[in-house]
Amino acid sequence: MISIVVCHPTSGVCHTIFPILEKVGAPHLNKILPGFPATPMENQSNILSTFEFLSMSDIPEGFKVIKCRRYNTNSDYLLPTDEKEEIRLNLHYILRHIMHGNYIAPVEEQLQEGIVVLDAGCGSTAEWTVEMASHYPNSTFIGIDINDVVLQSAEIPSNCSFIKANTVLGLPFEDETFDYIFQRCMFASFTPRDWETGIRELARVVKPGGWVESFEPSSSFERSPPDMRIYKAVVSLSEAQGIDLGYVLEIPNLLAANNFEDISSDYVSIPFGWGGRVGELHGRNGLMTWTALAPLVAPVLKISHEECVDLTKAAFANFKANKTWNKGYCVYGRKASSRKWPVR
Ligand SMILES: C[S@@+](CC[C@H](N)C(=O)[O-])C[C@H]1O[C@@H](n2cnc3c(N)ncnc32)[C@H](O)[C@@H]1O
Repeated sequence: MISIVVCHPTSGVCHTIFPILEKVGAPHLNKILPGFPATPMENQSNILSTFEFLSMSDIPEGFKVIKCRRYNTNSDYLLPTDEKEEIRLNLHYILRHIMHGNYIAPVEEQLQEGIVVLDAGCGSTAEWTVEMASHYPNSTFIGIDINDVVLQSAEIPSNCSFIKANTVLGLPFEDETFDYIFQRCMFASFTPRDWETGIRELARVVKPGGWVESFEPSSSFERSPPDMRIYKAVVSLSEAQGIDLGYVLEIPNLLAANNFEDISSDYVSIPFGWGGRVGELHGRNGLMTWTALAPLVAPVLKISHEECVDLTKAAFANFKANKTWNKGYCVYGRKASSRKWPVR
């Protein structure tokens, strides 16, 4: 595995970044290594999707290809499942920087001593799970996702494993299996009913006294530019799938309704395209996300794919100019140990 360590020019803080880089091909290394790195996100337009070389009969069952992006047909998840999406999931490194760490719940000591941890919806590259497993070798980490995790076994620490599973349909674990559950960025995947079922499921599989932590971005933008056509189209696409992007505000209430206590709810500010290197990278990641949605957004706006991509680029240029930001909600709570479980 190729890893690149980048150091912040002023703080000197270093991170290992973009460990899946070799998947997009060695030529990118040349662009990345000199000076402060250009990133795969910066180079995304140069990354050729495998699907540009495949005929329809090569596309695995359960997927469809639109404008050279591969989408899962077996779920309501709007974003593609392909190599470009794997690169976009490097959002992990940006969020870790913004959150000043990988988690906020008070579990540091327990992680060091050795506990059982679930990453619910770990993503196909499972950066959080793998990184946490490397940092805390005494603990056991399990990542679940509806999609396959694409890592090679050599990339996976021995205290870390993955299972294909659906949080909403029921996790393949006994009641009270985990000491700590982390779930991040499910805002575009879950309907309100999914949130209710999903949190109830997490509450079932966490031990009494164990913690559930969630990180989700807000659906509203602060200092947003006047032209938000693209975002409004994304919202209406989500609504058509039954997804209410604002429902993440209910997470503390859902935890409380499921017998959690010591619930903490806070947010971090996430800049789009401004505010230093991390804001800039986050802007690029957002542009990548919204561009990935262009095949779905263009028909909603009744414009061509190319016009949609141009409008998306303009939106992100305006975010930068307006210093637009949104909130990243960090919520965690501890399952009460006194009441009989599960609560129905
Ligand atoms: C935006 S990604 C976030 C990945 C990872 N948590 C992170 O923060 O980097 C959302 C992930 O949730 C997965 N997902 C969506 N619905 C799910 C469900 N019902 N059960 C489990 N995973 C799900 C998707 O396949 C995708 O990998």
